[in-house]
Amino acid sequence: MRLKFGIILAILLGTSENVWEADAGVISSYSDGVSLRAVADSNNLFMAKIYDVLKETYDRNLIFSPFALSTQLGMLKQGAGGNTSDEIQTASLFAYDDPTIFRGYFDLIKLYKLTPATKSTTNQIFLGGKFSTNYVFQRTIETYFDGNFKRVLNLTKSSIEEISKNISQNKYKGLVSAVFLESKLSFNYASTFQSLWESRFDPKKTVMESFFKNDDDFVKVPMMKITTELELVDLPHLGAKAISLPFQNNQLNLIILLPNTRTGLWMVEKQLKEYSFYLISDRILKADMQNVSLTLPKFDIKSAIDLQEPLEQLGMKSLFSPDEANLTRINLLRGPVTKGSIPLHVTGFVQSTQLYFNEEGSFGSQVQPSDSASQEDLSYELGDPPTNIVEFNVNRPFMGYIHDWITDTVLYTFRKVE
Ligand SMILES: *[C@@H]1O[C@H](CO)[C@@H](O)[C@H](O)[C@H]1NC(C)=O
Ligand SMILES: *[C@@H]1O[C@H](CO)[C@@H](O)[C@H](O)[C@H]1NC(C)=O
Ligand SMILES: *[C@@H]1O[C@H](CO)[C@@H](O)[C@H](O)[C@H]1NC(C)=O
Ligand SMILES: *[C@@H]1O[C@H](CO)[C@@H](O)[C@H](O)[C@H]1NC(C)=O
Ligand SMILES: *[C@@H]1O[C@H](CO)[C@@H](O)[C@H](O)[C@H]1NC(C)=O
Repeated sequence: MRLKFGIILAILLGTSENVWEADAGVISSYSDGVSLRAVADSNNLFMAKIYDVLKETYDRNLIFSPFALSTQLGMLKQGAGGNTSDEIQTASLFAYDDPTIFRGYFDLIKLYKLTPATKSTTNQIFLGGKFSTNYVFQRTIETYFDGNFKRVLNLTKSSIEEISKNISQNKYKGLVSAVFLESKLSFNYASTFQSLWESRFDPKKTVMESFFKNDDDFVKVPMMKITTELELVDLPHLGAKAISLPFQNNQLNLIILLPNTRTGLWMVEKQLKEYSFYLISDRILKADMQNVSLTLPKFDIKSAIDLQEPLEQLGMKSLFSPDEANLTRINLLRGPVTKGSIPLHVTGFVQSTQLYFNEEGSFGSQVQPSDSASQEDLSYELGDPPTNIVEFNVNRPFMGYIHDWITDTVLYTFRKVE
């Protein structure tokens, strides 16, 4: 059984220097945890809503980062007014006022910067050459969302592509949120995640075995094997079981949601409710360790998701409409709306995510960066052979969540079907 991490959270957030607080004003010097909880909850509930829409549109492998998306919407909301702001607030379940959102993201991002696997979390915003932002907007994004504005004199389609490519090729590690502001706003986000497993798989035990796409159809894939103590829970109401596989330092983990049958994923997805993730994570939190013989494919998963339609479906309509978008707080300099500002609307909202899992951990691509390779001798303990072993064989379509135990925030969620 795990300890609640609330205390660790207080220590992490309470003791590190905070240079912004003096001029930020709105936020108090100590994290109350309440704002962070509010933001983390919005993130996870919104994940469930958007997954519900995406699962209909994308019938194959699917991966996206709810954390990146909700951070972007949180920022966007600071630049929105009128109906546009209301729509973002309602659809993305930000049930709280701006100071709570500020404090929540401030704490969350700070926490990720203190966590080894996510310490390079950056929020890079590229400004086109002629674009001028409202000072208050820019300062808000810099202060609370750790936004880093960079002016690109010639922000063209190809330079945007180059930046995205750089991000997805792991030139930046961790979670990266890139937003491009031109006279038209385009959100272009690419990310990878890199961390070693807490208990690594022995590559010598990896064998080719069947992965069943359905009852009749299967492919041979490399399957990694490990027998170790893990938390495994049965979720009969979902027709599935879940297991938690920790990354190094135990702050982040991969939760695998495995349907009980080869064709059960669709049913599991149908049963998922807004609160299902909490139910799963809570059950794992309370579970006792078991000796598990785990079989997990070595796999990669990537997708590029255009979020415009899903967001519109969830009610964020005016954001994308040249006539109705109210993003005046982003670039309105001073005075009435008609002066000093170009009417803005969002023209693109694309998330590209790529993860690769192997015996060592999770990486952005199959070309594992050399500095991340394990230097340790991977000798395995020869103590007593484990007893009471339970099998967990991920040989059929499944879902996964990469999440952090401290705040219970989901960074990535995916579905692997082929
Ligand atoms: C746009 O938002 C601003 C700021 O909230 C508000 O003052 C203005 O009335 C809104 N404009 C429209 C057309 O709704
Ligand atoms: C805001 O939305 C309401 C309800 O949909 C609509 O009646 C109103 O005209 C909208 N306001 C603007 C400024 O578009
Ligand atoms: C900007 O990009 C365009 C199109 O790629 C190119 O023709 C132009 O020379 C570039 N300008 C500068 C200043 O780099
Ligand atoms: C992309 O990466 C290359 C090589 O690391 C670098 O030279 C280039 O400036 C980067 N481009 C952008 C737009 O950041
Ligand atoms: C796992 O197996 C080891 C070795 O036999 C044993 O000491 C340990 O108690 C077992 N763990 C559980 C949770 O059963």
